[in-house]
Amino acid sequence: MTAVASDFIKKGEPKRIVMIYSRYERFWHWSQAALIFILAFTGFSVHGLLPLPYKTAVQVHSYTAIALIVLWAFTTFWHFTTGQWRQYLPRLASLPAILKFYAWGILTGAPHPYTKTLKRKQNALQSLAYLWFMLVIGPALWLSGIVYLTYPLWAKMAAGTIALPVVACIHLAAAYLISLFVIIHIYMTTTGKTPLHYVKTMITGYDTIPLSKAEAAYLAEDEPGRLK
Ligand code: HEM
Repeated sequence: MTAVASDFIKKGEPKRIVMIYSRYERFWHWSQAALIFILAFTGFSVHGLLPLPYKTAVQVHSYTAIALIVLWAFTTFWHFTTGQWRQYLPRLASLPAILKFYAWGILTGAPHPYTKTLKRKQNALQSLAYLWFMLVIGPALWLSGIVYLTYPLWAKMAAGTIALPVVACIHLAAAYLISLFVIIHIYMTTTGKTPLHYVKTMITGYDTIPLSKAEAAYLAEDEPGRLK
């Protein structure tokens, strides 16, 4: 079976309302969102683009950054222990159909070429975007942020060099990238059945998805709380 075929295979199956985002998944998603908003507001205030006083902005930014790093550490652990990291492996064969939909089909009312399933909550474009977020933008932010945060420890060594401006530049570039990611992400959340459909799903955890007989039987037996 090709990757494309397996992405579309569940379309004929009966649909059920199923909890697809666990409590922890929703908790980390929304707390990450809140922390990133606070970091963007305080960070761009440190940079002089937003109005928070410099000293307050630096203090709030530093504590919030530590909270986000702790959250990321727990969430990385959660992804590996639950096997959820597999959701992020992009199935590139279905990417052209997804790109065509977002470039054109979405404007003409075409049906979405991808159907969420129990095993596969994200389409190929989402997986690629989140992978880029987790492997490039996130590490660039926290690595440069930690180096920035520990500046007093290496200030003497870096005296007379451009080390600090380089770290600041990397951090700022990653901050712009994450802001762009957030803007596109928020726009994409409005493209469901209704503008708030995806947001509601991430709040309640439940969505209507096709379930195979085996999946329905497994959930009914082992995780009945996930079926409505
Ligand atoms: C994830 C961990 C992060 C750490 C450890 C961190 C740490 C820092 C530190 C120490 C500074 C310097 C503050 C000062 O001048 O004393 C800073 C600045 C800044 N941060 Fe972060 N930060 C993090 C995440 C973020 C995020 C998510 C954003 C944006 C969405 C962000 C945006 C900024 C901006 C725009 C500046 C000002 C850069 C400049 O003008 O030099 N940071 N950050």
